[in-house]
Amino acid sequence: MLKDLLKASRSYRSFDESVRIPNELLADWIDHARYCPSSINLQMLKFRIVSTEKECAALLPETRWAGKLKDVKLPPDGHAPVAYIVICSDNSVIDGADKFQKDVGICAQTIMLAACEAGFGGCIIGSFTSDNVKALLSLPAEVNPQQILAFGKPDESVELTEEAADGSVTYYRENGIHYV
Ligand SMILES: Cc1cc2nc3c(=O)[nH]c(=O)nc-3n(C[C@H](O)[C@H](O)[C@H](O)COP(=O)(O)O)c2cc1C
Repeated sequence: MLKDLLKASRSYRSFDESVRIPNELLADWIDHARYCPSSINLQMLKFRIVSTEKECAALLPETRWAGKLKDVKLPPDGHAPVAYIVICSDNSVIDGADKFQKDVGICAQTIMLAACEAGFGGCIIGSFTSDNVKALLSLPAEVNPQQILAFGKPDESVELTEEAADGSVTYYRENGIHYV
């Protein structure tokens, strides 16, 4: 059931680093995005897999996690993502490809659901400096990172909860469990 998959597809920020994700599987998740709708069918997005230990280690410091949780380091040391998919806009397809943020979101959620269905989990990362990531990955001038998807085998519990009595929907952690 799609709703069950959506409920299971939470944002995870701690992973078992001993479980790697083969490139073929990451490519298959990207393949799901080929079936997504695209503005004017321009198909202006490109996807860059990051999966070597060296590249993953270099990309991690460029990503910012759970900004609301000031007193906890996420991902914890030794529990980093083992792969990333960087969704990029390709301005050689259309000038101004950077503006198609809705297309980015549609593809991001589709890929996250594909990962969840395959028994993995991850987190959409919007908080990063695009120019830094572009340089790090030696992307062509016309290709700009728009969203980072981080993946691994989650080794933490995330539980869905109702909004607080005061109406707050801010996520929080208690006894190692992430409530959202
Ligand atoms: C567009 C977008 C950008 C996000 N950027 C970040 C981010 O930079 N860092 C992070 O830790 N989580 C990020 N998240 C994850 C959200 O914090 C998360 O979806 C939210 O807390 C709800 O939790 P849930 O996904 O488990 O429902 C992002 C989510 C979206 C949709």
